[in-house]
Amino acid sequence: MVKKAELHVHLEGTATPALVKQLAARNGAELDPSTFKSDGEFAWTDFWDFLSCYDKAAAAIRSVDDYRLVTYDYLSRCAKEDTIYVEMFSSPDHAAECGISYAEHLEGIAAGIDDAFKDFGIIGRIIVTCVRHFGAERALEVAQKFVTTPHPYVVGFGMGGDEAQFTPEDFAPAFSLARQAGYRTTNHAGEFGGPESIRDTLDHLPISRLGHGVRAIEDSLLVEELADRKIPLELCPGSNISTGLYPSRGQHPFRRLLDAGCVVTLNSDDPPFFATSIGHEYAEAAKHYKLSGTDLKKITENALKASFCDGTLKEELLSKLNQ
Ligand code: ADE
Ligand code: ZN
Repeated sequence: MVKKAELHVHLEGTATPALVKQLAARNGAELDPSTFKSDGEFAWTDFWDFLSCYDKAAAAIRSVDDYRLVTYDYLSRCAKEDTIYVEMFSSPDHAAECGISYAEHLEGIAAGIDDAFKDFGIIGRIIVTCVRHFGAERALEVAQKFVTTPHPYVVGFGMGGDEAQFTPEDFAPAFSLARQAGYRTTNHAGEFGGPESIRDTLDHLPISRLGHGVRAIEDSLLVEELADRKIPLELCPGSNISTGLYPSRGQHPFRRLLDAGCVVTLNSDDPPFFATSIGHEYAEAAKHYKLSGTDLKKITENALKASFCDGTLKEELLSKLNQ
């Protein structure tokens, strides 16, 4: 099986309904009953309702050990699908909502990364994110904690959330702080915002990759620019279909972006919400975009080369891929 690497997955969004219920039970926490459907899966109707369901599920993660368990559980599932590297988005804002400090949330995630490495040899690293719809002030607070509390597993800074709120320029102070401290950054753009949202991000934020970026396809000059500048796209086809952005895998622009020369990667985003996994994304991409084993290996190579981890680890991972 082809070795895989993932750059775009939200840690709180990796916890399965079963794990969310288990954490809530052991914490004696009441979850909002509207979090789940009658079949036990997460209940949401559209992208904005998904963001709200995500918050309700994340409210079950209430301690350092919960973060450890969520991280370990996710990385062990990835390892079983021959994944060698995962860069996970953490959200200090979600942790804070549950009374977990910045340092504590990293402590828990790092412990999960260590446990998974010991048991499966998979390597995890962390991208700390702010949430766009929480506004620029909170983003700057996250960036300040990010630069003043370094951790060996934290490799970059990013932003998720509702692209329709505020503008990339509003978040320039937060991103500049991270960039000036020597970190690379990524921003969700061109998911529920159109190509102009990507253009705004390129114009105002010091990013090295784009979260999604898929709607660049609506502007051929932009696609050309992304390909020329080799800006890696963290594509998440299963997520985009699940949230209704495209009707099917066949109609998703993955193949067209690849053919246009863009640096593409495959990612699961929030796997249990979208009934997917990193292995499922690779398998479905192979089927729908007619990718050979060599093509899939190139996608993993793209991800490893675009990762924010240090050069020594990157070389180790690239040689593991080629073993
Ligand atoms: N947070 C978690 N998943 C997200 C997504 N797909 N887009 C924006 N923000 C998110
Ligand atoms: Zn995302």
